[in-house]
Amino acid sequence: MKLLVTGGAGFIGSNFIHYWLAKYPDDTIVNLDLLTYAGHLESLSDLKNNPHYTFVKGNITDPQIVDRLVSSVDLIVHFAAESHVDRSILDPLIFIKTNVLGTQILLEAARKHGTRFHHIGTDEVFGALPLNSDLKFNENTPYDPQSPYSASKAGSDHLVRAYFHTFGLPVTITNCSNNFGPFQDPEKFISRMITNLLTNQKVKVYGDGLYVRDWLFVEDHCRAIDDVVHRGQIGETYLVGGLTEDINNLQIAQKVLKHLGKDESEIEYVTDRPGHDRRYAVDWTKINRELGWEPTKDFDACLKATVDWYLSHEDWWKPLKSQSEAIYK
Ligand code: NAD
Ligand code: DAU
Repeated sequence: MKLLVTGGAGFIGSNFIHYWLAKYPDDTIVNLDLLTYAGHLESLSDLKNNPHYTFVKGNITDPQIVDRLVSSVDLIVHFAAESHVDRSILDPLIFIKTNVLGTQILLEAARKHGTRFHHIGTDEVFGALPLNSDLKFNENTPYDPQSPYSASKAGSDHLVRAYFHTFGLPVTITNCSNNFGPFQDPEKFISRMITNLLTNQKVKVYGDGLYVRDWLFVEDHCRAIDDVVHRGQIGETYLVGGLTEDINNLQIAQKVLKHLGKDESEIEYVTDRPGHDRRYAVDWTKINRELGWEPTKDFDACLKATVDWYLSHEDWWKPLKSQSEAIYK
């Protein structure tokens, strides 16, 4: 199979390319990535001489380049996006251009060439859940995005569904919860916290720190995409989530501090994110029932493996650190 992966130089995309080529070494991947601040070719440096991997620098909003690449592949796995909520509060427009318009341009090329399309969505499109409840998002939860980021991702999901219903394009969607693991840009909570602590800075906890995310190790996400791409029902959406029963940000920080032999005096409470979603929790029964997927990883072991990865890959994250600090308090 020949794949077009968009956004393959980002966090999840680069993990996915590693995952896929290790499992399906006879497949071929073309990685289309604009190399924004979030795209890091160093994450894929081990594949430089792999004849099954090609990198193309380009914008998913460029119809010519997209059409040319889509014309020669069997499957598109679409990760490319502006992905950081905080940035979407500072500058929403680029989120609409990349996440909405870019997805439409890819879909249009897929329609022209009849190409199978898998879209990477987020659980944030469903809005926020209250603390201390058993409520979880599922495939029937109404869309209720709260940030410019999640609104733009909701727009992209709707377009993917529309291309299925209107044009019969063979699509699938996965809406996943918060990922963590190797190669995550140091702007996100866990990667920022670890790299802050490794550079003698404090952990920055937004607001009261009692926000809950449904953390998933990135490799589990890659396996879910693999399952849906190979065995998912065309036109269907699958929610993907983790095993952490309502661990809040402060509790995550305490675990990371413990792994690094530090104490809670390293926590600094900072101004809250405007419109901050209180809690996410994902019911992944459907993908489990239909495809047998489940998150196999033990959260604490994965968190420790992630801390260890940052400890041993300073050359990867150090150059990114000064750049990502600039926009935060
Ligand atoms: P990321 O920010 O680490 O990477 C995004 C990649 O897309 C970068 O390599 C960037 O250069 C590229 N890109 C941005 N704009 C582009 C454009 N116009 N044309 C081509 N390439 C462009 O993001 P991530 O965390 O790896 O997320 C990947 C996808 O997964 C996104 O669609 C995101 O919404 C979704 N998602 C992320 C998470 C998470 O926890 N990180 C969870 C659920 C869903
Ligand atoms: O739920 C899936 C989403 O998870 C993805 O769609 C997004 O692309 C991804 O960025 C992520 O969004 P979040 O906003 O949940 O992730 P972030 O790492 O930015 O924040 C996680 C939580 O930690 C959130 O409650 C805000 C808080 N936070 C974040 C940072 C960066 C802090 O307390 N301090 C921080 O420094």
